[in-house]
Amino acid sequence: MSKKTRSMMVTCSLLYANGDLHLGHMIEHIQTDIWARFQRMQGHRCLYICGSDCHGTPVMISAEKQNMKPIELVEKVRQQHMADFAAFNISFDNFYTSHSPENKALSEMIYRRLQDNGDISKHTIEQAFDAEKQMFLPDRFVKGQCPKCGAMDQYGDGCEVCGATYTPTELINPVSVVSGTMPVVRTSEHYFFELPRYEAALKKWMQEGHHLQPQVTRKMDEWFQQGLRHWNISRDKPYFGFEIPDAPGKYFYVWFDAPIGYMASLQNFCQDHPEIDFDAYWRPDTDTELYHFIGKDVMYFHSLFWPAMLMAAKLRTPTAVCVHGFLTVNGEKMSKSRGTFIKVKSYLKHFKPDYLRYYFAAKLNSSIEDIDLNLDDFRARVNADLVGKLVNIASRCAGFMHSHFNNTLAAECGEKALWRQFTDSAASIAAHYEQFEYAKTMREVMTLADIANQYISEQAPWQLIKDEKNHARVHAVCTMGINLFKVLMVYLKPVVPTLVQDAERFLNIEPLQWQDSGVFLGEHRINRFTPLLQRIQPQEINMMLENEKSSLTETKTQQVESPFKPEITIDDFAKVDLRVAKIISAEQVEGADKLLRITLDVGEGIKKQVFAGIKGSYRPEDLQDKQIIFVANLKPRKMRFGLSEGMILAAGNGQSSFVLSPDNGANAGDIVK
Ligand code: MSP
Ligand code: ZN
Repeated sequence: MSKKTRSMMVTCSLLYANGDLHLGHMIEHIQTDIWARFQRMQGHRCLYICGSDCHGTPVMISAEKQNMKPIELVEKVRQQHMADFAAFNISFDNFYTSHSPENKALSEMIYRRLQDNGDISKHTIEQAFDAEKQMFLPDRFVKGQCPKCGAMDQYGDGCEVCGATYTPTELINPVSVVSGTMPVVRTSEHYFFELPRYEAALKKWMQEGHHLQPQVTRKMDEWFQQGLRHWNISRDKPYFGFEIPDAPGKYFYVWFDAPIGYMASLQNFCQDHPEIDFDAYWRPDTDTELYHFIGKDVMYFHSLFWPAMLMAAKLRTPTAVCVHGFLTVNGEKMSKSRGTFIKVKSYLKHFKPDYLRYYFAAKLNSSIEDIDLNLDDFRARVNADLVGKLVNIASRCAGFMHSHFNNTLAAECGEKALWRQFTDSAASIAAHYEQFEYAKTMREVMTLADIANQYISEQAPWQLIKDEKNHARVHAVCTMGINLFKVLMVYLKPVVPTLVQDAERFLNIEPLQWQDSGVFLGEHRINRFTPLLQRIQPQEINMMLENEKSSLTETKTQQVESPFKPEITIDDFAKVDLRVAKIISAEQVEGADKLLRITLDVGEGIKKQVFAGIKGSYRPEDLQDKQIIFVANLKPRKMRFGLSEGMILAAGNGQSSFVLSPDNGANAGDIVK
């Protein structure tokens, strides 16, 4: 009988404290919450630890835009996130913040240990720098034309049109998203974690098995094959984060201190719970378990960097990293304009949390495949399974209990075999939960619900009741039905806690534990039945989508932000030397999808060569002899294809680009002003 009580800690990714929660986030929290509730029902200690991820440039910039201090913004968002999660019945033990004294101390401690091992190296690197804002720019804060295909308005780390990856310094005509100015290249010294030193240990950890799903292991193999690289863990000021010890002006990169935030959140929890030994969770020889639930986009950080950091700091490694796929809605990426970018708050205005909790549970398994929320299917399943099958069992029996048997169950279980079939399922259902195979659990529960309904239909108490001498039989059948319902409520309790709480009230029993699945309720008085759930109507789904769409246009009109770049003076403008130039020749560039090489007559007998991303809009031969407008004093740029000595003015929408020409009468070399 004595089953070992396990002590475990489960985490979800710390949430960026910079925006609303949407249903994609809920996949992770529903998956984790089900697991935590299941483990607690088994009598294990399962601490569910999470919090806000506060640091980094995006938070800093968005705080500035809202005229707030970063710390005020993150606290405001943290409160909103906590409210959303509470409304969804997410049972955190602690939801803390990465911007905490605990996290600062732990980050410094781990950094020191890495340093002591010789795992930290220093290197000077080139980065985009915003001279106006006096700050280095993260890749995503530089935009410009793709150096490979010429597509406009691409991020500094890669092109969404052609898929090329590059560094911001390679972009054509780059601009800083923060100030609208052209970034310059600056060098700076940075601190690197020597990840390659842990390759062997990581491989060993991976091969031990059980820590990672097969798909994640395959991804890891790919990364090992590409070769691990040292990892830049520092950022220059101004930065919202923790300053690195003995390195003035240098801050820990947000992804360095974020996973340490898991530890910090537990430590913070322990302050109010002296019975829990923080160190016992982090010793290398611990017998506590540690599970990280994460989305597939943050796999690299959790399956490589984080375990390596823990190894380097001589702490325990995770028991498992549990990766889930991304949410799609109606088969497509969530979209604001279709109204399918559904915020948690909007969902909650229309539907009960248990509906989505059940729907996701019915789809979740141990793979990292994406998960689709098909809204018609959502309605159909909730109506058919939760209302039509489950609740139906209780409602079919409860009426007779009330009308004929004083709401009191019969003493004996009349159907031993059926009862055993239900209670014997506990083991396999528990195994599915344990292995993150919730879809299998839901299928098994619904099969049992079908069997219970079939039993009631065959017995047909509504027929039996017509004859007085069959009343004992009706009593037995309804007692059976209600007991079967109770068993299913035990099995579903991790998934639909509110429904089960209402069922416990109806059944007039203490909160159900896992072992209650085997206990038959006989000679027990229940409460009068009230409908436990309502069906979803199709128009409610449409209403939610419409509301999302209109909230989008609202926020658009609220933002009276100018669509233009920041104001400049006439002197700023006068710095640009614009000239009329004549195209001497235009030709294809080998290896570039969108660029043409253009030779210009810019007057006074001077020729210049430029590369322009206009291949999609012109045939080279049609451009010959055309007059255009040319930026004559732009610093020349060395490109992969040669030197670009200026820029042709063109107008475009990001897809195509059309050159600007002067009217007849202008000549090459004429000044434009
Ligand atoms: N702050 C980092 C994580 C740091 S963990 C030490 C982060 N935050 S996040 O707010 O962007 O995402 C939080 C979690 O939600 C991540 O695990 C991410 O994969 C998950 N999801 C975000 N959007 C999602 C979907 N559309 N679908 C499923 N999961 C999604 O990343
Ligand atoms: Zn491109």
